[in-house]
Amino acid sequence: MKEPVRIAVFASGRGSNFQALHAVLHGMEDAPANIVLCISNNPNPGAFEFAREAGIESMRLSPKMYDDEQEYERSLLWALGERDIELIVLAGYMRQLPGGVVRAYRGRILNIHPALLPLHGGRGMFGMYVHEAVLAAGETESGATVHLADEEYDTGPIIAQERVPVLPGDTPETLAARVLEAEHRLYPATVMMWAEKLRAGEIPPTVSNGQKRV
Ligand code: GRF
Repeated sequence: MKEPVRIAVFASGRGSNFQALHAVLHGMEDAPANIVLCISNNPNPGAFEFAREAGIESMRLSPKMYDDEQEYERSLLWALGERDIELIVLAGYMRQLPGGVVRAYRGRILNIHPALLPLHGGRGMFGMYVHEAVLAAGETESGATVHLADEEYDTGPIIAQERVPVLPGDTPETLAARVLEAEHRLYPATVMMWAEKLRAGEIPPTVSNGQKRV
C-alpha cells in the first residue's frame, strides 16, 4: 500500500475549500492524500482556526515578513521540503507563489477559480469581481475550474470544470453561493484524482504552459 500524498493547503481567508477537502479525505479509508500543513500569508485567517481544530499544522509565511522576495521563496521551499510536501493545493490563496516554488512543484500545484476559465480569470479577477464580471457579460452559465498553477494568473492547464446555471435575478452573491457549492464538490474529487496520478507516477516532471486540458 502506497503512502498518502502529503498536501500543503495555501489559504488566505475562511478556508471553506480547505474544509471541504479535509472532510472528504478524513472520512475515507485509505485516502490517497493527507493534508499535513496549512500556509497563509495572513496572520489569523479562518483557515488557521479550522487547522487548529483538525490538528493540522499551520504556518504564516508572507513576503511582508522578509527583506526580499528571494528570502521569502527560500523559506517557503524550506518549509515545504522539510515536511516532504508533494502536492500544493491553493484554496482561496490571494497571492502569487514565487517563481522558484512554481518551478520546483510544476504540475503539483492545483488552484480553483470560481468561473469557467479561460473566461473571467486573470489578475484582479478574484472574489466578487469574478461573479460581477460573469453577470455583466450576460453569461447563461458559470462554474468552477481546477487548473495547474503556473507563473501567471489563472492560465495554467485546466484539469476539471463543473458548470452551474446563471439564473434570472442572480446577484453576485447568489451566483457566488451556487459556484461555491460546485467548488466544494469539484475540488476534493479533483485533488484525489491528481493524488492518485502522483502515486501512480503519472505526473510528468514538467507541463507545458498552454491553456489546454490534460
Ligand atoms: C473561492 O471562491 C475560490 O474559488 C476563490 O476564493 C474563494 C475562497 O473561498 N479562489 P474559501 O476560502 O475556500 O472559502
